[in-house]
Amino acid sequence: MEEKAKQTFYVTTPIYYVNDVPHIGHAYTTIIADAMARYQRLKGNKVFFLTGTDEHGQKIEKSAAEKGLSPQELADRVVVRFKDLWQKLNISYDYFIRTTEKFHEQGVQKIFKILLDKGDIYKGSYQGWYCISEENFLSEDIPLEAEGYKICPDCGRKAVLLEEESYFFRLSAYQQALLDFYQSHPRFVRPPGRMNEVISFVRQGLKDLSITRTSVKWGIPVPGDPKHTIYVWFDALHNYVTAIGYDWNPEHFATFWPADVHLIGKDILRFHAIFWPAFLMAAGFELPATVFSHGWWLKDEAKMSKSKGNVLDPYFILNKVGADALRYFLLREIPIGQDGNFSHQGFVHRINSDLANDLGNLVQRTLTMAVNYFDGLLPAVTEEYEIDLELTRQFDETKNKVYDLYNDYALNRALEEIWFFLNAVNKYLADNEPWKLAGQAEKRDRLARVLYQALCSIRGASYLLYPVMPETAEKIWNLLGEERKPSTIMTSQLNFYDFQPVNKISRAKAIFPRIDLAEFTGDTNKSIEQTQPAIKMETKESKMEYITYEEFKKMDLRVAKVIAAERVEGTKKLLKLQIDLGTEQRQIIAGVAETYSPEDLLNKEFIIIANLQPAVIRGIESQGMLLAAEVDGLAIIPFFDRDIPPGTKVK
Ligand code: ME8
Ligand code: MG
Repeated sequence: MEEKAKQTFYVTTPIYYVNDVPHIGHAYTTIIADAMARYQRLKGNKVFFLTGTDEHGQKIEKSAAEKGLSPQELADRVVVRFKDLWQKLNISYDYFIRTTEKFHEQGVQKIFKILLDKGDIYKGSYQGWYCISEENFLSEDIPLEAEGYKICPDCGRKAVLLEEESYFFRLSAYQQALLDFYQSHPRFVRPPGRMNEVISFVRQGLKDLSITRTSVKWGIPVPGDPKHTIYVWFDALHNYVTAIGYDWNPEHFATFWPADVHLIGKDILRFHAIFWPAFLMAAGFELPATVFSHGWWLKDEAKMSKSKGNVLDPYFILNKVGADALRYFLLREIPIGQDGNFSHQGFVHRINSDLANDLGNLVQRTLTMAVNYFDGLLPAVTEEYEIDLELTRQFDETKNKVYDLYNDYALNRALEEIWFFLNAVNKYLADNEPWKLAGQAEKRDRLARVLYQALCSIRGASYLLYPVMPETAEKIWNLLGEERKPSTIMTSQLNFYDFQPVNKISRAKAIFPRIDLAEFTGDTNKSIEQTQPAIKMETKESKMEYITYEEFKKMDLRVAKVIAAERVEGTKKLLKLQIDLGTEQRQIIAGVAETYSPEDLLNKEFIIIANLQPAVIRGIESQGMLLAAEVDGLAIIPFFDRDIPPGTKVK
């Protein structure tokens, strides 16, 4: 493994667009970065972990206008949501950059100017098909549709034809330099399949890149020619250098640049593996060590994305199972690089079998025995047998493997190794049956040794788990009464027998309660007919049950506007609706298809309960419920008599 001489580690996530709130996909990249950062800190490296938001450009401009906000207002609101989610997920970032920050804008302008003076940026004119949703010109080989426009291959939306005066980056001049660089740094892009993809793309030839827009107001002005704004990708990529001090803290910049790893999704590979190194070469920067491109989380086999409106809400999962279970699932389920399908069944199974059983039960049983048989004190040990030493050796082997795997970003494999070890500990207990030894006075020494081995194993495993599950590691540390917190024992210091208790061992409650699929997803068996309509007034034999105003106020009723509607295949009653709630978009499933066609509902506004627990209906998530009257089995929706801004509260 290549290791840098300097003892620093700089890891980044993409900076996320602020057109909408974060979802599981964003959480995934950020959790990987967090685990890497925590591991590198344990190695004693000085770590800088950067995340943030990408706030300029046409996509944000458009999205803000639709919501009746200024782009800055929209950004300010969405940033709060990202920061809140990162806090709940225990993301230990060092800085959260926003591209609207002054120092970033100035840094980008400075680099632009350097490249302009050098001739790597020049003025010309550009005509092309542009996808606003992806903020990208379509490649020229995409054919025109019969109707005379082009469709974006990434999001399936109509592209618009733009012709404008534009500044260009001389990307074509860097084709050979890039190919040479890839050849001498074959692990620049990982996993290897992605490197090959990039190389063959570059070999086909690179055209100069339009990097300014006159059609976009919401962007960094071109220095000296302010009717142009700088293309959002040229702006955004440079966050990786401005955030660590380019142009404002040279010493800090020199400490951390070049980056050790840019973590990204494969959707933005070309920007990071081709444009970015070319920009850096032009400006005379060193190049990052690695661009690690992970796969996509899919739902119903389609990429989860804000543009598609099929995203999973991380808060729902977080509230049910906590940060560590989500972190564990996302990192364990797939190797970084492959796609993963998020199914509630798969999720529940993993949590119950790995966390509740293998880990949770082990901790609970062992600690309970330590409390019952040794009054919560670490047993003093004398003799040891081969079977005990075997477990110790297994821990040492596991530790070495896990560290190698963490070094190599193979987080799922590292977790797998930790679980092999946990299962070995479970087997050790089953083989040695301490609960039987406890009844025999002459076996006291043996009992002490068995529990001692098990306690050291739990301690060791929890320290290995810390980068991925910091909360759990700390919980176990606390129950064990060990002196040193998981974040303070460096990888070079972790030894199996080095258990230093300063407090008594406590009896553990289930650290991961089992979860139930029905409880988790809402009752999946409940048909839409049973869940609709929501507010059925209980009229048990004309006895009216009153609710208080306080109870009514708990319902978050809002005006929703339909932006897309389709039938749910294989059902007579169900429509899948994408709705605008002002500050966010959601998907709901409504049992109204016998009354309304999808076209009938497009652009219509009605009332939904926005804080109803999401439910899965026919395998599709429904995040809210519309209100309707039921007349002879038909659902009739109350519409408004005038247009109202989506998101308006109804009370
Ligand atoms: O592209 N599965 O921002 P973005 C896994 N602003 N990861 C996913 C995902 C999914 N379904 N959906 C999103 C941008 N991601 C630019 C980046 S960087 C200088 C500028 C993650 O809000 C993944 O990391 O569209 C992906 O690359 C990123 O979110 C895109 O976020
Ligand atoms: Mg995107």
